[in-house]
Amino acid sequence: MKTIDDLDVAGRRVFVRADLNVPLSGATPDSIRITDDGRIRAVAPTIATLLERGAKVIVASHLGRPKGEPEDRFSLAPVAVRLGEILGKPVAFATDTVGDSAKATVAALGDGEVTLLENLRFNAGETSKDEAERGAFADQLAELADLYVGDGFGAVHRKHASVYDLPARLPHAAGLLIGKELDVLTKLTDEVARPYVVILGGAKVSDKLGVIDNLLGKADRILVGGGMAYTFLKAQGHEVGISLLQEDQIPTVLEYLERAKANGVEFVLPVDIAISATFPDTKTHKPVEDFEVVDADKIPADKEGLDIGPKSRALFAEKVADAATVFWNGPLGVFEHPAFAEGCNAIAQALIDSDAFTVVGGGDSAAAVRLGGFDENEFGHISTGGGASLEYLEGKILPGIAALEG
Ligand code: 3PG
Repeated sequence: MKTIDDLDVAGRRVFVRADLNVPLSGATPDSIRITDDGRIRAVAPTIATLLERGAKVIVASHLGRPKGEPEDRFSLAPVAVRLGEILGKPVAFATDTVGDSAKATVAALGDGEVTLLENLRFNAGETSKDEAERGAFADQLAELADLYVGDGFGAVHRKHASVYDLPARLPHAAGLLIGKELDVLTKLTDEVARPYVVILGGAKVSDKLGVIDNLLGKADRILVGGGMAYTFLKAQGHEVGISLLQEDQIPTVLEYLERAKANGVEFVLPVDIAISATFPDTKTHKPVEDFEVVDADKIPADKEGLDIGPKSRALFAEKVADAATVFWNGPLGVFEHPAFAEGCNAIAQALIDSDAFTVVGGGDSAAAVRLGGFDENEFGHISTGGGASLEYLEGKILPGIAALEG
C-alpha cells in the first residue's frame, strides 16, 4: 500500500477522504456543538503534512446517516470551523459536494490551502448499492482532484463511492492515520501478547457476533457489558426487566458460551447492574431519582439495566490487571449520563493501570474515555474506527483498504 510519501503532491489537488463523523449536541444549527473532536484531531497530521508539501487539499467526509439529501443537522459546517482551529489556518467550506460551491471553492484553492466539502451522504450516490449510481458520483468527485488519499479509517468497512470507487479513479495512497491504525490492529491479530483480554460493550449483541465468533479462537478472556450483556444474562435464565434485549440472538449467545467453555476462553458477565425505570436524559443530565444497583440476576421486571455495578467494575478490573494485550470496544453503560458512566470510567482506569498494550476501539468507547477526562496518551492506541476495527478483527476484507491496495 502506498503512503503519502509516495505521492508528489506539490501544486496538485489532493482529495482526502477523512472520517469526520463526530458526535454533536444541540438541536438547532446555532446551538450545535462538537462533543468529541477526536476524529478531527486524528486526521489533522495527514492534512497538515500535505499542506506543508504545497498540496491543494480537498477534505471530504460523511456525518451521521442522512438519506441522500441535505439535512441541516448533518452539515459539516461546524466541523470546518473546528478543523480550521486545529490546523491553525482557514478552511474554506463548500456548501455542496460536487456542485457549484465545491467546484468554485476547489478552483480558488492556492498551494497549501484547504477546503472541506459538505457531507458526502447528502448525495445518494455515496452510499448507493447500485454500482453505476455510486460510480457516477465517484466520477464527479474525481473531477475535483488529481490525487486521492484515503484516511477515513472509521469508514473503510463501507463500500461507498468516496471510500471504494474513487480511489480506483485517481492515483492513491493511504494517509498517516490509516497507516497507524493498521499497524496497531496487526498487533491484535498476529502474534498477540498473552493474556489477551477483550472487553465488549455497546447496545447490540448482533453487531458483535462476528467478532465474538472470531475471538473465541484467539482471546483468553472476553468480558461483556453494555446493552449487549442483557441478552447473555437472559440466555442464562435471568430476568432482565426492560433492558435492551435481542431475544432472537439467545441461541447464538448460548452457543458462544458453550464454545468458550470448550475452548478454555473465560467469559465474564456483569454480576451487578445499575438500573432505573427510565432512560436517563443524556442532554440535560437530570439526576436519576430511582437510581439503584442490584445483582445481575435481580433486575426487576419494570427496570432497565444502564451500567455495570461496583462489583462488576472490580471484577472486570481484576480480569484486566494481568493482561498483556487488551482490546476494548463498546461502552459498558450509558456513559453520556454521569450516573451511568462509572463502568466506562472504571474500565478506562483499569486499562491505564495495567502494563498491557491497550487498544480502545470505536467512536463511542473513545468518546467515553475522553468524556471521562482520561489522558489519551495513557492508552496504547485509541482507534477512530468502531465498526471498522471490529470487521478487521473478524478477518473481513475492508473495501476502503482493498481499494488503497489496488
Ligand atoms: C462510524 O462512526 O462508525 C463511522 O463513521 C461509520 O459510520 P456509519 O456506521 O454511519 O457508516
